[in-house]
Amino acid sequence: MEFPFDVRRILRPDSSGISVVYSREARAPSRELSMIIDNMGSASARAQRLGSIITTSVRFFSLSDNKLYFKVQDNKVLGFLKTGTKNLFYTDEHGRMKEITPLCLLDFYVHEDVQRSGFGKELYEAMLAYERTSPNKIAIDRPSPKLISFMRKHYTLSSYIPQNNNYVIYREYFTVWNI
Ligand code: ACO
Repeated sequence: MEFPFDVRRILRPDSSGISVVYSREARAPSRELSMIIDNMGSASARAQRLGSIITTSVRFFSLSDNKLYFKVQDNKVLGFLKTGTKNLFYTDEHGRMKEITPLCLLDFYVHEDVQRSGFGKELYEAMLAYERTSPNKIAIDRPSPKLISFMRKHYTLSSYIPQNNNYVIYREYFTVWNI
């Protein structure tokens, strides 16, 4: 997605084109940063056919521990993902409830023109390295069919017990320390 300003000046990506933005860092975010977040958030909601937008600049900057990861190439933002920690109740196969506080994938979008080109994997790997975690330790908020396929293909994660809160927590969250 292109913007009428220099996105590199705003997002300051590293040499791989990855930029990390903390919600708590920018007390007075620039109009340009808000525009990037709002436009990418709207595009993600459209791509997922959601009734409401999950990622807006106003909501992002009002939540304390969320982070946004962007992939930038030339003057384009190719995609983003958003993480945050949540307190979740998880029900296992015996109906026993546990309380867990995992890092969660809250939103994830790669621009339609470049989907299935490896940019999603690049963003996900950058996030895992930055957070020093592993794919089985991430809870996913309402994954789309494309994301279910993405997790199966790249991380061989596919088995989970459906939860009332619609988060997907793979069985390996409990059975494997790191994969
Ligand atoms: N249909 C089925 N699977 C797909 C599709 C598709 N149209 N697009 C990507 N995938 C999955 C497949 O497993 C694919 O492997 P394949 O091409 O061999 O079948 C794999 O992802 C490709 O990996 P990448 O190229 O690294 O992924 P990509 O850059 O496309 O990013 C993402 C994946 C973020 C899911 C992207 O396709 C996208 O933005 N989709 C639309 C929005 C969306 O569904 N976002 C996730 C919402 S859920 C949430 O945010 C918590």
